[in-house]
Amino acid sequence: MSVEVKTICCIGAGYVGGPTMAVIADKCKYLKVIVVDLNKVKIDSWNNADLTKLPVYEPGLKDLIKRCRNKNLFFSTKIQESIAESDMVFISVNTPTKQSGLGAGEASNLKYIESSARSIAEYAVGHTIVVEKSTIPVKTAEVIKNILISSQKGLEKNPSKSFTVLSSPEFLAEGTAIDDLINPSRVLIGGESKTSIDALVNIYKNWVSEEKIIKTNIWSSELSKLTANAFLAQRVSSINSISALCEKTGADISEVAKAVGMDYRIGKHFLKSGPGFGGSCFKKDILNLVYICKLYGLNEVANYWKEVLEINNWQQNRLTNIIVKKLFGTVTNKKIGILGFAFKANTNDTRESPAINICSNLLLEGAKLSIFDPKVKFQEISDSLENFNNPENNSFKTNDSISMASSYEQLANGSDAIIILTEWDEFKAIEWSRISKLMRKPSWIFDCRDIIDPNHFVESDLNIWKLGCGSNIKIIK
Ligand code: NAD
Ligand code: UGA
Repeated sequence: MSVEVKTICCIGAGYVGGPTMAVIADKCKYLKVIVVDLNKVKIDSWNNADLTKLPVYEPGLKDLIKRCRNKNLFFSTKIQESIAESDMVFISVNTPTKQSGLGAGEASNLKYIESSARSIAEYAVGHTIVVEKSTIPVKTAEVIKNILISSQKGLEKNPSKSFTVLSSPEFLAEGTAIDDLINPSRVLIGGESKTSIDALVNIYKNWVSEEKIIKTNIWSSELSKLTANAFLAQRVSSINSISALCEKTGADISEVAKAVGMDYRIGKHFLKSGPGFGGSCFKKDILNLVYICKLYGLNEVANYWKEVLEINNWQQNRLTNIIVKKLFGTVTNKKIGILGFAFKANTNDTRESPAINICSNLLLEGAKLSIFDPKVKFQEISDSLENFNNPENNSFKTNDSISMASSYEQLANGSDAIIILTEWDEFKAIEWSRISKLMRKPSWIFDCRDIIDPNHFVESDLNIWKLGCGSNIKIIK
């Protein structure tokens, strides 16, 4: 028996829900796709006629929205009606780290998952396939099933209500989300019900070849997602740890990464050293993995993965120390330019961006920061820094100490140093010889993203420090 899916709904209109549903709508014109969210401001932004005001910036997203919105793709706050008319409901809500209570600081806060499951239990009509898209601890499907099953009991009013639960974690990366969704490395579907799995496969089959669709048991699917993120983060921490050794020994991290990555067993991806990984997921997913390991008494495994996070923090703090030391041991009242605040290029997302930690450290040292990012708004930056600050340490007022530069000239004017924290392509075209004239002498560039090729400097008066570069500090006169 096959299940006919005509309408799908996605709970959560964030970085995953919006782009994922836009691609599904574009590839499956026969489907009606509704993305719902509690956050009215966000839904209004998704519906904004001005496509530059979408809540998520992703290359290629605007075109998809233009093609599909209000044709077969809808953004709505009408959660009840949307669930009721859907044959399949995706849960794509946030799963942040718990801030208090049992498991605080490590476990995932499943309150948004639970409230989504309760909404589905209450409003669904007929048979509904529930798909976990959020990243969740292994065994969460059990929680969702329990909530759904308990709603079936005593449902004399609607005895025909029934559910199946699938896990289909999302592997997209921000900045390349649309391409990742259109050309996924794989699509993972875990579950027990063959007809439900087939129903989801039939959607993906519209643009993904069947060899790329992996079917597993539900627990393998849930755990694979956490494991994939942990492995990716581990590679970043591994190369970052070696970047520090390169600086001490005269080796060059980009040469080491190339030599290591050309071994096909290791592979070349995710070997770019930088200011540490950011983004909403790596840290929370590893913390979650650590928590689960401890729960099952696997303390050695927990400690192993925790180290990946510790190196990441260490890298960010070590960079701040280097910057302060090079600037004669103090940055108090010095103007420092920050190039890039997003956690990576091609996104407006700043969640867990290494820029937050590094900027906060510099602010605590008394620096005045002038920040430039092509896609991140000032409010976002100031909120991130404000939220990050430990109130006990807060010896500065964020808004007095940070400003947004509207040009490279404004950022450089009178500054002692410029720190490159995000690898935006446009930074590669900066004419440093011109910009450096505006800086106070001696002036420094700290390149934490391998943007600058010092060999291309002709006449410039700059000290250049490159992360992971043993023959560092290039002083060009
Ligand atoms: P997000 O914060 O951008 O979006 C989540 C949305 O869910 C929010 O807009 C929130 O208002 C909404 N929401 C929460 N509870 C709701 C409810 N009960 N009803 C309706 N709406 C509700 O989060 P995101 O970055 O899209 O991540 C979502 C999930 O996907 C997380 O589990 C994350 O780990 C995972 N994930 C994220 C990425 C990524 O690149 N951001 C990639 C893969 C997987
Ligand atoms: C990551 C994974 O790549 C996705 O597969 C996953 O779906 C997603 O997390 C998630 O679950 O949220 P994302 O965080 O969007 O995607 O971006 P990445 O490209 O993985 O970058 C994460 C961080 O690592 C960034 O700060 C980036 O600058 C840093 N990074 C990445 C490096 O420093 N070096 C590298 O070689 C690669």
